[in-house]
Amino acid sequence: MGRYPDLAGRAAIVTAGAVGIGGAIADGFADNGVSVAVVDKDPAAAHRKAAELTARGTGAVAIACDVTQSESVQQMVAEVLRRFGRIDILVNATGNRFGGMTTLTVSPEEWDTTFSLCLRSHYLCSRAVLPRMIEQGWGRIINISSDAGRLPVRLTSPAYAAAKAGVIGFTKHLALEVARQGITVNATVPGTTLTPRTRQSFALRPEGLKEREERNPLGRLAVPEEQAGIVVFLASDEARYITGAVMEVTGGLLMT
Ligand SMILES: NC(=O)c1ccc[n+]([C@@H]2O[C@H](COP(=O)([O-])OP(=O)(O)OC[C@H]3O[C@@H](n4cnc5c(N)ncnc54)[C@H](O)[C@@H]3O)[C@@H](O)[C@H]2O)c1
Repeated sequence: MGRYPDLAGRAAIVTAGAVGIGGAIADGFADNGVSVAVVDKDPAAAHRKAAELTARGTGAVAIACDVTQSESVQQMVAEVLRRFGRIDILVNATGNRFGGMTTLTVSPEEWDTTFSLCLRSHYLCSRAVLPRMIEQGWGRIINISSDAGRLPVRLTSPAYAAAKAGVIGFTKHLALEVARQGITVNATVPGTTLTPRTRQSFALRPEGLKEREERNPLGRLAVPEEQAGIVVFLASDEARYITGAVMEVTGGLLMT
């Protein structure tokens, strides 16, 4: 039995759930008996993750979906309901940055792409699951923001910083909208985390890794499991009185 027995039998959608932080969240739910829809743009990666979860004895389904597209998101949610008969938890984990690191170098197209993946996707997926959660009188939505949206300790991308700050604003507004309907909505703020993608880029630039480790109060970067734990907690009954909250998981980077 997992750490949160109340989660057993629930059903979750994890977007960007095939790898990295989303993949670790999918694992964390599986450990607690939650059926997981692994929703990802990359069908092969989504199937690999769902097969891993199924082999561990959890209900899992892979759904290939571009969560920036309204119609695809509606179809994805209908498919999850068809497969699991319920949706209790939504984790919006999509987000990445595109293009220039400054306002002068990021193009309008890169700005829109970044906003679409980081923010529009969270709105579209939340909107698609809400009717069901309202009907059930229970739901958990957890949005993944970023330290970049909280405090720019280094240049990343103005579009990413703005969209990730937008995730926090959206989270709080939605939390207020549905607070009396049994649904909590929270955000987590990861600091740089050693996912396959970031490991690959640090392999090309080891001095970047060293600089970040030295700057971090804990002296190291997070691993995906350390981002997943708080998300599973927020979905559990232990977190029932927490809504509209922003949980920083940065090793103390943002403490001042
Ligand atoms: N990794 C970090 O250091 C870090 C730090 C702070 C915040 N974050 C945030 O955490 C979340 C996860 O980051 P990560 O680095 O683990 O993920 P990642 O960039 O490795 O990507 C995860 C998955 O997203 C999928 N994806 C991309 N576009 C999609 C789309 N349109 N629809 C559906 N799926 C799509 C990809 O196929 C991939 O499998 C993101 O929101 C990111 O902004 C990450």
